Amino acid sequence: MADLLVWQGDITTLNVDAIVNAANNSLLGGGGVDGAIHKAAGPQLLEECRRLQGCPTGEAKITPGYRLPARWVIHTVGPVWQDGARNEAELLAGCYRHCLALADEVGARTIAFPCISTGVFGFPAQQAAGIAVQTVRQSLEGQSSPDKVYFVCFSQEDADIYHSLLRSD
Ligand code: APR
Repeated sequence: MADLLVWQGDITTLNVDAIVNAANNSLLGGGGVDGAIHKAAGPQLLEECRRLQGCPTGEAKITPGYRLPARWVIHTVGPVWQDGARNEAELLAGCYRHCLALADEVGARTIAFPCISTGVFGFPAQQAAGIAVQTVRQSLEGQSSPDKVYFVCFSQEDADIYHSLLRSD
């Protein structure tokens, strides 16, 4: 079972095999972590994303990392929070599952997730973190890879949420 770790800071600086991008359905960039990743990766990332023809919510697609330290970028599209009764939890869980499946396909040993959907898309942070940790734990039960999964938090409050979740069984 992989080590689940919390890391606070800018995901674009992490030297891991794969970082996850919280994108939108177009995969053509945006603000937040999406904007930061495209800025750090350089223009080739957008060129490659154009060829991917978008991505459905809850699913993921993979590209090289180009100028990023990370070798791969796994672009996933989280749900926009509405009222919690529009399958948001299951769609968010799907993001984590699909990203882990793509990471496994390319043999990524280390992967870093941002707090998907909790910024512009408005998903409540505590609930999203609970889904993230539970889904990653369930997906990786009995698996020999990856070695490490980082939950990357931009804010102290998000980091505190993940620390308390990872301390509990
Ligand atoms: N490194 C790590 N985390 C970051 C960074 C960064 N450089 N920049 C922002 N974050 C954090 C935010 O603070 C938030 O906790 O990533 C989390 C996700 O927030 P958003 O980036 O707003 O992503 P999301 O809520 O999934 O909304 C996606 O926003 O940027 C657009 O194109 C994107 O339309 C899509 C939407």
